[in-house]
Amino acid sequence: MSESYSKKVLSLFKNPKNYGKIKNPDGIGKAGNLACGDVMAIYIKVGKNKKQEEIIKDIKFETFGCVAAIATSSIITELAKNKTLEEALNITKNDVIKALNGLPPIKVHCSLLSTDALFEAIYDYYTKHNSEKITNELEKRHQSILKSKEIIEEKYSDWVNEEEKQLE
Ligand code: FES
Repeated sequence: MSESYSKKVLSLFKNPKNYGKIKNPDGIGKAGNLACGDVMAIYIKVGKNKKQEEIIKDIKFETFGCVAAIATSSIITELAKNKTLEEALNITKNDVIKALNGLPPIKVHCSLLSTDALFEAIYDYYTKHNSEKITNELEKRHQSILKSKEIIEEKYSDWVNEEEKQLE
């Protein structure tokens, strides 16, 4: 694994894809990284494919974080777009790292932020529209993400409050 950022990471950092908010999203996911204090929000719109399966029709992100956090947020929106919700839930940090042509070892944790935020957005959608899809396993993962997020929000409450105000 390289110690420096790949060209792909740097180019997505400079020109991120799908950056911003979605108006009236079907799901919002927020995740925080305890290791560094970075925070990410992912917004999704859910639609249906030809087989009538629920898919991610639109997805955007906002990230307060490092170069790798911005690049992983951007790439996960590209990986998840038009996937079924089940497929999107199965995107791993290794998929994200591979799509970025690698991350320096000390930045591998940053990729987790994006998979957590995507998971939370889908969980939020299920909570509001399809709660029978929430298995014990999904609930457990949600609780652990929530715990990290609460600790981060306490530490970074000024920024989070500002962010909440903008969401209203
Ligand atoms: Fe915080 Fe990368 S150092 S997510």
